[in-house]
Amino acid sequence: MIATQAILWSRFQRHYLDCPTIGLGLDISRVPFPDEFHAKMERPIQQALADMAALERGAIANPDEQRMVGHYWLRNPALAPSGEITRAIEQALEAIHSFADRVHRGELSGASGPFRNVLVIGIGGSALGPQFVAKALSHPRSDKLTPYFFDNTDPDGMDQVLAALEGKLGQTLALVISKSGGTPETRNGMVEARAAYERAGLCFASHAVAVTGEGSALHKTAQADGWLCTFPMWDWVGGRTSELSAVGLLPAALQGLDIRGLLAGAKACDAATRNPITRDNPAAQLALMWYFLGEGRGSKDMVVLPYKDRFELFSRYLQQLVMESLGKELDLDGKVVHQGLAVYGNKGSTDQHAYVQQLRDGVANFFAVFIEVLKDREGSSIEVESGATSGDFLSGFFLGTRSALYESGRPSLTLTVPDTSAFTVGVLIALFERAVGLYASLIHINAYHQPGVEAGKKAAATVLGLQRKIVAHLASNSGKAYSAEALASALGDADAAEMVFKICTRLSANGRGARIASGTGLKATFQAP
Ligand code: PA5
Repeated sequence: MIATQAILWSRFQRHYLDCPTIGLGLDISRVPFPDEFHAKMERPIQQALADMAALERGAIANPDEQRMVGHYWLRNPALAPSGEITRAIEQALEAIHSFADRVHRGELSGASGPFRNVLVIGIGGSALGPQFVAKALSHPRSDKLTPYFFDNTDPDGMDQVLAALEGKLGQTLALVISKSGGTPETRNGMVEARAAYERAGLCFASHAVAVTGEGSALHKTAQADGWLCTFPMWDWVGGRTSELSAVGLLPAALQGLDIRGLLAGAKACDAATRNPITRDNPAAQLALMWYFLGEGRGSKDMVVLPYKDRFELFSRYLQQLVMESLGKELDLDGKVVHQGLAVYGNKGSTDQHAYVQQLRDGVANFFAVFIEVLKDREGSSIEVESGATSGDFLSGFFLGTRSALYESGRPSLTLTVPDTSAFTVGVLIALFERAVGLYASLIHINAYHQPGVEAGKKAAATVLGLQRKIVAHLASNSGKAYSAEALASALGDADAAEMVFKICTRLSANGRGARIASGTGLKATFQAP
């Protein structure tokens, strides 16, 4: 039932959580949980907070991989369970500051002069955080280096980035980020970037830096080829929670962003969200609301709507953080549960002219998380019409949409932050990291492994193996044309006909390995080019 304005105001007063130490407000009043919900959930959320405390003390919180989970130590190294880890974090941070400083002072420069750009090559947790922060904190007039990204193995995508960097590679630092150091997309990006530097007559190694685990394939390449520097990644930091390790801090520092502010915001948020008093803990409240709204099984999608262009990439970042952490087949006891929480979103008010129509009037399969930023811009605003600025409109659209959704029975949460500073960005990252961890405890799953991602990597390797066999077979039977079925049988794998068809069709479109000898579509036959 929809509450009247007066009831809603009273509910807002009861359920608005103000966290002055981190400048955050959380409003859960537009979630229709019953009065007894919090009492019912108190024991499980206290257990989740206890699990989190154990995790922060260094317990094996990722049992499948037998790993500690230490992203909280990155912003408070003194909390790490050993002096060795504390020192490693502190040394990495010092190295980041010192390297960025040398780049900014021109002490380290490219073949054509001081570095002006940084090409970040990474994917998943090694790209989404850096991309979010690069946009959230960017000031194009004062940024020290301009960031570019290769975050896929799409050749055309890389060509577009390289076209934007045409004539500038001699002042571009290539930053290759991969925790495992063996992710194919990132390796391909590195190989393509190296080829582009070489085409431009430049030595890649003297423009390249790696962030990766000690001893990884990437680490070995960087050492063997004499890259400028390598920065560490540790097995106790997960990819999607690595933004405040060298993965995120190095590109941000090179761009000239306030990484001390990011760390300070995250540290302060960690302190605020360790609070054992549930009603005062915004991460616990967020996790509980997800639990209530999705009935503990992700039955509703989470639509993230920041009303701020700078935060446009936050929903993409959260999509990985939440869905890779919570989307699991098995629970911690090995029971099939198919858990998850789907996340999508972009920004307000732009999305009001796109899918918000369905949110308001269509299928009620979601809840919204609004992010309200109080400060409109640096400096003053003109009035775009009498008595109203652009920011007033943005705020009006946010409040109006929130009310409209509520009136159509669509629940929402609202996070209010004062500004888009580095501190605030650090707060938001830490808030959601902890909410994900607490929610994972509530639903009894391992949030810190990603068996599905690993399975995808293996499946791609199988496809490439089949492609190599196809190309070799066609080359050694040149002049002979095969249907997809005949070729699959000739390779001794009749069940792979569809895969053979897909591979040959694409090879033909690219004029390499196979070409269409006759027919089209399913009637096509293929032979060596
Ligand atoms: O969160 C994760 O672990 C993954 O999404 C990884 O970040 C992604 O697969 C990239 O891995 P890596 O950094 O090892 O190249």
